[in-house]
Amino acid sequence: MVTTLILKADDRGIKAACDLLAEGACVALPTETVYGLAADATNGKAVAGIYAAKGRPAFNPLIVHLPDAESVLGIAEMGPQARLLAARFWPGALTMVLPLRADAGIASLVTAGLPTIGVRVPAHPVARRLLRAFGRPLAAPSANPSGRISPTSAAHVADPDTGLGGRIAAVLDGGDCPVGVGSTIIGWSDDGRPALLRHGGIPAEDIETLLGTTLLRPESDQTAPSSPGQLSSHYAPRVALRLNADRAGPCETLIGFGPVAAPLSLSERGDLAEAAARLFDILHRADALGLPIAVAPVPDHGLGAAINDRLRRAAAPRG
Ligand code: TXA
Ligand code: MG
Repeated sequence: MVTTLILKADDRGIKAACDLLAEGACVALPTETVYGLAADATNGKAVAGIYAAKGRPAFNPLIVHLPDAESVLGIAEMGPQARLLAARFWPGALTMVLPLRADAGIASLVTAGLPTIGVRVPAHPVARRLLRAFGRPLAAPSANPSGRISPTSAAHVADPDTGLGGRIAAVLDGGDCPVGVGSTIIGWSDDGRPALLRHGGIPAEDIETLLGTTLLRPESDQTAPSSPGQLSSHYAPRVALRLNADRAGPCETLIGFGPVAAPLSLSERGDLAEAAARLFDILHRADALGLPIAVAPVPDHGLGAAINDRLRRAAAPRG
C-alpha cells in the first residue's frame, strides 16, 4: 500500500509528476476523454507497473500519448489519411493505430509485441503540459482497476475502494474530463482501408466525411480487420510453445524464469515486473531462432497472471 498523492496541476505539481515518472512510477493524468494511468513508454518496468496497479489479467496494447503530431512521426509511420486525420482531430479524442518505427525506442510491453502502436495527442491542457515537461512518450490506459468504469475525475481515480487509491504514486488533478468517454480508435487493414476499432469521443461519421470513405466496422463487417495478419490484435510466435518446462527438450529453445536458468530468461531473479517488461522481447527473440519454445513455470499471482495468460494464448493450437 502506498499513499496516493493528489497533485495540483500547477508548476510544482507538474514537476512532482515528472520526477515520479522519471523514477519509473505510475501517475494518473487528466485527459479530455478520461483519466489515464501514465508511465514512461520507453521503460518496460514502469509500463509493467501500470498492469500491476490495474490488476489487469491480460496484456492489451496501450495507447501512447504525445504532445504533438511531429513527435508522433518519431515513433510511427503516418500515411496520407493519418496525416489528414491528425491535422483535423489532433489534439483531441482520436487514437490512431499506426505502423511502429523500428527505432521508436518504445518498450515492447506497450504494444504487446505488435508491429503497430496506438497513438494520441490529447487536448487537455494539463496532459499537454505534462507531456512537454516530461519530454518522453507516456503510455496510458484508462486509470481504473481492471473491470471497473473509466474515471472522469481525480476523486474517482484516488478512491481506495473503486479506484486506484493506495496502488499508485499520484494523481494530477485537472478537474472533470469534458468528453467523458474514451477516444475513437482508427486503424488500417493490410490493404490500406481505414477501420473503426472503437467508438469514442469523435463521431465515426465525422471521420468518414473527412476521409470521403466509409470505415470498415469489425462489429458488422466480416471483412473488416480484426484477426491476426490483417490488423493484429495479438502477437503470437510462429513456432510451437510448451509451458511449465523445467528443462529444454532436444531442439527446443528454453525460456527461463527464476530457478529455471537459461540464456534467455524472463527474470533470473524471479521478479515478475522484470519478466513482464521482457516478455515480448524474449518471445520475439526465441521465435526468431525457429525452434519450438519451452517456457519455465511462472507463478500465477500478481503480474504472473497476465504473463501466464499471454503464454497460454501463445501455446494454444492455431488453425
Ligand atoms: O481516451 C482514451 O483512449 C483513454 C485516454 C487515457 O487516452 N485511454 C484508453 O485506453 O481508453 P484503454 O487502454 O482503456 O484502451 C485502449 C484500447 C484497447 O482496447 C487496445 O486494445 C487498443 O486501444 N489498442 C492500443 N494499441 C493498439 C494496437 N497497436 N493495435 C490494436 N489495438 C490497440
Ligand atoms: Mg479502459
